[in-house]
Amino acid sequence: MADNDGQQDTHDYHLGRAQVAAPFPLKGCQALDWGMQNRLAHIFDPQTAKTVMLAVDHGYFMGPTSGLERIDVTINPLLSYADTLMCTRGILRAVTPSTFNKGVVLRASGGPSILKELSDERIALDMEDALRLNAAAVAVQVFIGGEGETESVHNMTRLVDAGLRYGMPVLGVTAVGKQLARDAKYMRLATRICAELGATYVKTYYVEEGFETVTASCPVPIVIAGGKKLPEKDALTMAYRAIQEGASGVDMGRNIFQSVAPAAMIQAVRQVVHAGMKPQEAYDLFRSLAGQ
Ligand code: R5P
Repeated sequence: MADNDGQQDTHDYHLGRAQVAAPFPLKGCQALDWGMQNRLAHIFDPQTAKTVMLAVDHGYFMGPTSGLERIDVTINPLLSYADTLMCTRGILRAVTPSTFNKGVVLRASGGPSILKELSDERIALDMEDALRLNAAAVAVQVFIGGEGETESVHNMTRLVDAGLRYGMPVLGVTAVGKQLARDAKYMRLATRICAELGATYVKTYYVEEGFETVTASCPVPIVIAGGKKLPEKDALTMAYRAIQEGASGVDMGRNIFQSVAPAAMIQAVRQVVHAGMKPQEAYDLFRSLAGQ
């Protein structure tokens, strides 16, 4: 029985003061349920509504690509600088410390390797396992205009339905086939289709011309993939432009883990994403942290 002795008998009900519910800071996510928003808050820093996702899921179709031969050695030391880790459940269970307390975005589609036609992916993860692993979101490849277009869209909508059942966000990853033009028109089409069909947020590639029209016409947050390794200053410039033109963050892999100084690079990227640091200043920071 509760102890009533010594209970204060004065109360302050703050009459005349409206109840406050802070609006969720992420674009297009205000109507999501609490659990979904809470998971997103483990991906996007609530202070800036931006994210630096460290993408290391490449092995699901590329095997041990350069920089990811030993994720325990090369990636784990970077975890403290990332807002979120994007990886496969295999890597998560095998080498990622369970003390990592930020968001994990789990790769949830796969099938073909780089030796085959890549657009033929299937769902490769049960929502139940994503919940068991305490994932903050699941990621699925969508091949708009590709061979496996309908199947990949169906993969995404099935994950969206399962995600809505349990409060799990779904990241739609727009994959651009070699035969397709990587321009704003294509990115607008691909990102909008993902958002319309329920993706919680969308990953796409930065395009130099008209990227702001891609972010403007996509009703949910967009993060950019880094793509192939660029010189560090170019990668920082790309990240800067993407953020200034409406991106909510980066999902960057090779431009971090294939850098000559990955820890310096991810710290410089953080400044660009969260503090709007200009590319030259960020590059100077990179060089100084890298001891160059
Ligand atoms: C590729 O399909 C993977 O999903 C990567 O997570 C994604 O491409 C981002 O990595 P990167 O910055 O190396 O392109």
